[in-house]
Amino acid sequence: MKGEVPVPSRDSGNNSWWRQGVIYQVYPRSFQDTNADGIGDLEGIRRRLDHLVSLDVDAIWISPIYSSPMADFGYDVSDHRAIDPIFGTMEDFDRLLDETHRKGLKVILDYVPNHTSDQHPWFIESRASRRNSKRDWYVWRDARADGGPPNNWASEFGGSAWTFDEATGQFYYHAYLAEQPDLNWRNPEVVAAMLDVLRFWFDRGVDGFRVDAIHHLFEDEQLRDDPVNPDWQEGLSPNQRLLRVNSMDQPEVHGAIALMRGVATSYANERLLIGEAYLPIARLMAYYGIALSGFHLPFNFHLISTPWQPKAIAALIDEYEAALPPGGWPNWVLGNHDRSRVATRLGPAQARIAAMLLLTLRGTPTLYQGDEIGMVDVPIPRHRIRDPFATNAPTFGRDPERTPMQWDASPRAGFSPVEPWLPMAADFKRHNAASQFADPRSMLSLYRALIALRHKEAALTLGTYALVQASENVLAYERRHGERRLLIALNFGEGFEELESLSPPAKLLLSTDPTREKEDFARAPKLNPNEGIVAELTPPNRVGR
Ligand code: NOJ
Repeated sequence: MKGEVPVPSRDSGNNSWWRQGVIYQVYPRSFQDTNADGIGDLEGIRRRLDHLVSLDVDAIWISPIYSSPMADFGYDVSDHRAIDPIFGTMEDFDRLLDETHRKGLKVILDYVPNHTSDQHPWFIESRASRRNSKRDWYVWRDARADGGPPNNWASEFGGSAWTFDEATGQFYYHAYLAEQPDLNWRNPEVVAAMLDVLRFWFDRGVDGFRVDAIHHLFEDEQLRDDPVNPDWQEGLSPNQRLLRVNSMDQPEVHGAIALMRGVATSYANERLLIGEAYLPIARLMAYYGIALSGFHLPFNFHLISTPWQPKAIAALIDEYEAALPPGGWPNWVLGNHDRSRVATRLGPAQARIAAMLLLTLRGTPTLYQGDEIGMVDVPIPRHRIRDPFATNAPTFGRDPERTPMQWDASPRAGFSPVEPWLPMAADFKRHNAASQFADPRSMLSLYRALIALRHKEAALTLGTYALVQASENVLAYERRHGERRLLIALNFGEGFEELESLSPPAKLLLSTDPTREKEDFARAPKLNPNEGIVAELTPPNRVGR
């Protein structure tokens, strides 16, 4: 990765859609089935676009839809330029892209640069012989003297990250499944081929990419062992047994990201790059790149892992805001297809507080499909387990958060005319998008109100953030844009709470508590149990006018 230069960012500053927009993740297998195979498809996304329009999100990110043997449900790509028949055809994709654009939404696809499927023609060639021209497109190494794998690196899904290939007598490296061999990004031909993949989809009109597992792109060239994690104990995920100091987050990754950004920036219409990297905040910041030549948005997953307490969340926001590079735009995430759902982690009452937090913080929010109706993790009976991760670590399987979208009270929740690939939630008849649409007290109505408010109030998108209170049960902060000042106060507890100080009068704009009447707060408001509010603060010089 030599000679790359930071690319100046071609974005329209604060007016860029992704700074002010809300992103919605579609997990296509579980969104809407239209061809009666129990698995969602592209036509299903198209038919459900009105849900997204009524939610008023600005962009959809669709998890991988490319040709794949589905060992890791699309994150094992066997042809980067073809749609897997499970999801439909290229015509279906073009129709979806076109219609989504016509409805005013952007389309972000998933880009999986770290690995391919073992069925990808590149890997089939690579493993054909040691002299094959694509041998070096993947990471092949000799066994140790004792015949064991080259080092102790572990797969994210458990077990060694090396698999022995009998035919050619070497090991190949895979950060994930053996069916997902890692590409060798030190080979310029790989770099060129993978950058062409970006161009292929940008030329078709996609508006950006979520870049998968970017922290795994490079490993230590000398193959040094990863040290054992002294804090690992029974009950923690097997993928935390080692400290991955040598097998991930290597300095070379930033050169590769700058090249991806260079491709994105070469297009006239601004194209967005979001990076997936589970890293501590200090390490994550490097993924914005030198002079912002990296990702527009390196995903910030820290709300998922931080204890749900006002002081801990306030400290996280402060740490994250302080660490951002100059001009770097923040972003926040509550969940995705790899993590237990927010309504399961926090419970239904606090999931409403989390929604208000996500949609009132400074930074682009990404929603995970189903969270807007408060879907919870669905228990998966042993014989229905599909996630390969669950084979090595049953309690860490990701099927529970991937179950089909609950659209209505009809059979199989309107998701599919046949039994879906994963079980439906048992309570879908009561708990679904259609019933919530009509109910002003529902989670869906809350999400719609929050997104509408975010779109209306520049203070919530472009405004500054300042902490007002972080006490045992209350987190309160102010978002300010010009003269416009909004107070957000969130009660994490089960009791009534008073705000410590509130000098200017406040007018309630939105509450998570449907029983609360709209009213003026002449004094500091009391928060109901589990209540969050957004209130408008009147500048002192306007009081009494
Ligand atoms: C992260 C994706 O979100 C996850 O679902 C996948 O298993 C791994 N990367 C490997 O691609």
